[in-house]
Amino acid sequence: MSEESRSYLIPKVWHSYIKRHSFKLAIAFSFMLLEGAAMYVFVRTLKPMFDNVFIAGQTSQLGSISLTVFAVFLVRSIGSFIYRSLTVKTGVNVVGHIQRDLTRHLLTLDMAFFNRHSPGELIERVRGDTQALQGFASTTLLSVGRDTATLIGMLASALQDDWMWTLIVFIGAPLLVLPISLLQKLIRKQTRRARETSASLSTRLDEIFHGIKAIKLNNLAQHENDRFNLGVRTFVRTALKSEYGKAAMPSIIDLIAGIGFVAVIFYGGQEIISGEKTAGTFISFFFAIALIFDPIRRLTSVSGSIQGALINLERIYFLFDQKPAARPSATAHGLTQPLGDIEFRGVNFSYGPVPVLRELSFVAAGGKTTAFVGASGAGKSTLFNLLTHIELPDSGTISIGGQNIDSLEVHNLRHSIAVVSQESALFDESLHDNIKLGDVVTDDRRIEQAAVDALVSEFAAELPFGLQSLAGPRGSNLSGGQRQRVIIARALLRDAPILLLDEATAALDNQTEIQIQTLLDEFTRDKTTLVIAHRLTTVMNADLIHVMKDGQIVESGSHTELLAKGAHYSALHRTLATD
Ligand SMILES: Nc1ncnc2c1ncn2[C@@H]1O[C@H](COP(=O)(O)OP(=O)(O)O)[C@@H](O)[C@H]1O
Ligand SMILES: [Mg+2]
Repeated sequence: MSEESRSYLIPKVWHSYIKRHSFKLAIAFSFMLLEGAAMYVFVRTLKPMFDNVFIAGQTSQLGSISLTVFAVFLVRSIGSFIYRSLTVKTGVNVVGHIQRDLTRHLLTLDMAFFNRHSPGELIERVRGDTQALQGFASTTLLSVGRDTATLIGMLASALQDDWMWTLIVFIGAPLLVLPISLLQKLIRKQTRRARETSASLSTRLDEIFHGIKAIKLNNLAQHENDRFNLGVRTFVRTALKSEYGKAAMPSIIDLIAGIGFVAVIFYGGQEIISGEKTAGTFISFFFAIALIFDPIRRLTSVSGSIQGALINLERIYFLFDQKPAARPSATAHGLTQPLGDIEFRGVNFSYGPVPVLRELSFVAAGGKTTAFVGASGAGKSTLFNLLTHIELPDSGTISIGGQNIDSLEVHNLRHSIAVVSQESALFDESLHDNIKLGDVVTDDRRIEQAAVDALVSEFAAELPFGLQSLAGPRGSNLSGGQRQRVIIARALLRDAPILLLDEATAALDNQTEIQIQTLLDEFTRDKTTLVIAHRLTTVMNADLIHVMKDGQIVESGSHTELLAKGAHYSALHRTLATD
């Protein structure tokens, strides 16, 4: 994307994030101006200091000059602390604000978005890109304010000393234009590539740490290492190119400055020898020019930094521009009949081009238990995703108690449904807090009861901190069966009218499964339950069984009816776990 089209981002951040700090920034800029003025006063004292005191020997002025110089440095030291603190404070606040907004926004996006963008990439954008912005605020903003002020002060002083000398000093300046614009182009390109490589490195790391066990088991450490090293090498190369470009900028300016200085020494030196100008004038001029070049050097890199920051902003706003898929606006608040029949009618759904559900139609009676069986990949878990609006159907309708779920507020729909699946749904918090996620406003007594009912307490009793023991990242401190029990406890606590069980007891041992099953039979008595199961006992107890194949229901009925048919179910029946 070209710079012009990216600069539209500046008013955007200004309005959303920076404007509210404009008072602070205005104060900071005033102190920067004050510093520029102080430096002007300092340079102006040099001429009388040399001509009147040092050369002519008027000791009477020594005191007042010393006092002025001290005052200048006092103003500078206080002022610089104030404006530095203010700009850094603004930078940190803005970055925090963007990070909060960005995270809140990301949480509203659809699964489709998260399927496309890896956690590593998103983390890099939320943390890395915003932090890079902060670096920009604390170096570039400072430089723009302070250096411009100094530049103006010094230029004014130099012109006052001798406008001709000033002109001569900058004699080489036009030579700067071309190399600087070329360098800036290089810096921009490399900065952008460096950010992209950095993001892909984060993705790599995220995958390594998430997949650490698979990496160990498949002896992939060396392989992953090589891949990561390759990425790092690319990153180092691009980052260095951009840094070399930035480093070359001051060098070019130094060269030009050198030429200017030499020219002035020749030209001005003659004027001083002939007595036309005083040595004090030359000292004052020399200081002013020496102090001008540092700000100029920094200011030339400002445009590069701005371009770099725009690239960060672009990557951030790319996320802000992602919108959740348009949902029909909710006309109803929540379910009027939470225990009504659940009906899918002609539902089609695909991930990308591959159809997963094809004209899927079925009814799951309210207050009853309906089982779904079928080979893996048949689309069973997907239908749960549609019912909970994690994914949206391509066509067809899904209703609960006659109410199209499209017309409900997603929040309320999900509030009426508890899901127990095999996905790692645990956070690195205590078992207690993980259960509490089912109902965050409940009291501890109910949490403990749920823990007892779902047999969490049974194994928690053997952990050093009981229910307060940590589950580990994504529940990694627990066995598969223990994780499931925590998730079941969460669903019990949730006590929603609709319960979706996706292989909910698959990881449990026989003994525990029987106990949990008994509990669930009791618990689901007055609920609408949809269960995906591979155990014969669970399936047999269901009020109705739907057999799924390739995204469609191919058979429905009770266990005995379906067996008698001798078709899909009876074939599948032999594969169901019987123990
Ligand atoms: N996030 C996804 N992106 C692309 N394809 C997916 C995704 N999730 C599932 N699928 C595909 O959808 C099909 C149905 O998956 P799923 O509903 O999980 O099957 P089941 O639960 O019956 O085993 C499978 O072919 C699977 O590969
Ligand atoms: Mg599944």
